[in-house]
Amino acid sequence: MEIRPISESLGAEILGVDFAAGIDDGTFARIREAFHEHGVIVIRDQTLTPDQHLAAARRFGAINVNRFFTPVAGYPEVAEVRKEPDQERNIGSNWHTDHSYDEVPALGSMLYALELPPAGGDTLFTNLGLAWETLSDGLKSVLAKLRAVHSSRHVFGPARMADPDLRARFRNAEQAVQDAVHPVVIRHPETGRRVLYVNPSFTVRFDGWTREESKPMLDWLFDHAVRPEFGCRVRWRKGSLALWDNRATWHMALNDYPGHRRLMHRVTIEGTRLSA
Ligand code: SIN
Repeated sequence: MEIRPISESLGAEILGVDFAAGIDDGTFARIREAFHEHGVIVIRDQTLTPDQHLAAARRFGAINVNRFFTPVAGYPEVAEVRKEPDQERNIGSNWHTDHSYDEVPALGSMLYALELPPAGGDTLFTNLGLAWETLSDGLKSVLAKLRAVHSSRHVFGPARMADPDLRARFRNAEQAVQDAVHPVVIRHPETGRRVLYVNPSFTVRFDGWTREESKPMLDWLFDHAVRPEFGCRVRWRKGSLALWDNRATWHMALNDYPGHRRLMHRVTIEGTRLSA
């Protein structure tokens, strides 16, 4: 097995493993270690059925079924991330971390590339541990006392599903009623590293503050977190299987392939309650 960092700050490619054939415990321990060290791992050259994809994800934890994504036929635990040639929007085009709107957010998401456009369709990632560490001590001491409200309502709720392009890809809009409150800086449950835990898609305000009061500071943090030196770019190949840490990274899927299909399968893994 070979592990190759993608950038100085985030991400690693893993070559020479075959999840369909099975991974022994020693190899899996090294893959898990790479996941915690790099935040995003991209396991190249896999050939997986949905059952094998689920089995790979279960090595990391129990499956979390996303209630909003349309599942793959016959596989309720596998979400479809599809863009057809005639669709304008793609899924996940704004910076976010999956499931921060849940009281117990997902550990990570495992995305498997089935069909890719001839060019484009990369995914960008950024490292929220670095985003935290590069703040001044003054700002850190203010943020460390704050909690933030995260919501799914404005992303998956009925108002958003008025758009037919989105309605075709998502379901259960009436279930987008839950908000969750998390510390603004969390202690990563596995690595112990402190991580800035707000994101542009789901964080709506600081707890106890109005949206108007929160916006300038949140916008400043959102700009800071996507400094190019914190990030990496994943260039997909058919058969690439990426796993990203939802507690330590954000991601954004580029929508730069008009007129082409991109089809991925996503499995989300259960996490634990987050604390400061
Ligand atoms: C997502 O946000 O889960 C999708 C990412 C991608 O399609 O690259």
